[in-house]
Amino acid sequence: MASHGHQQAALAAEVAAGFREAMGRLATGVVMVTCHVDGKPWGLTVSACCSVSVAPPLILVSLSEQTASAHAITVDGRFGVSILGEELIEVARFGSAKGQPKFVDDFVRGDGDGAGDSATPAVARALAHIDCAVVQSVRAGDHVIFIGSVANVIAHLGDRPLVYYDRAYHSLGASTALGVGPVPDETVDSLLYDYPMPRAFARVDHHFVGSE
Ligand SMILES: Cc1cc2nc3c(=O)[nH]c(=O)nc-3n(C[C@H](O)[C@H](O)[C@H](O)COP(=O)(O)O)c2cc1C
Repeated sequence: MASHGHQQAALAAEVAAGFREAMGRLATGVVMVTCHVDGKPWGLTVSACCSVSVAPPLILVSLSEQTASAHAITVDGRFGVSILGEELIEVARFGSAKGQPKFVDDFVRGDGDGAGDSATPAVARALAHIDCAVVQSVRAGDHVIFIGSVANVIAHLGDRPLVYYDRAYHSLGASTALGVGPVPDETVDSLLYDYPMPRAFARVDHHFVGSE
């Protein structure tokens, strides 16, 4: 019979696999988080990026604590977020090559390109570049969450975002907007009135095998 320790390890592996599968269902945009390593532009491909606050404008990125980027950003207190469009898929590939140097000199805007607007390297032809100063960093598991105050935005605002879904890059293709803007107040009121408060998530039995 398997020991309690083995059962716990098997359970943890099952949850981790399920977690990977579940997160594969979450379609995200793709950004390159930029910084300087040895004084040169460096970029890491990241999907864990979202806006945090509007006033003041804050954004977060979550980086593996093992990455050169996380070390450099911790030291410099700055990072850039270049939002990648589908034409920049090769930049995304370059910035995610495991164990490879990620010097992105060839991909970033040069002097005279408006790069002077940005304290952090800005990927040329990115849909937008957001220049950030770290206001908080939080260690979470094997990652570090950097919360950045937005210092500057260089926008190109193209409309062909690069999308990551099911461990592959996608283009939005002929997307259909399913709705625009917030739900009217009356609808929210009726939903709140009619709908019971969510219950705590039910425990999933097979996640608790053999604990007694
Ligand atoms: C689409 C995509 C999204 C990624 N998102 C993240 C992320 O949010 N945070 C992170 O630390 N690594 C992320 N990675 C992994 C890194 O890009 C990179 O592959 C990993 O850090 C290995 O590179 P290294 O050996 O230079 O550290 C992502 C990779 C891909 C392809």
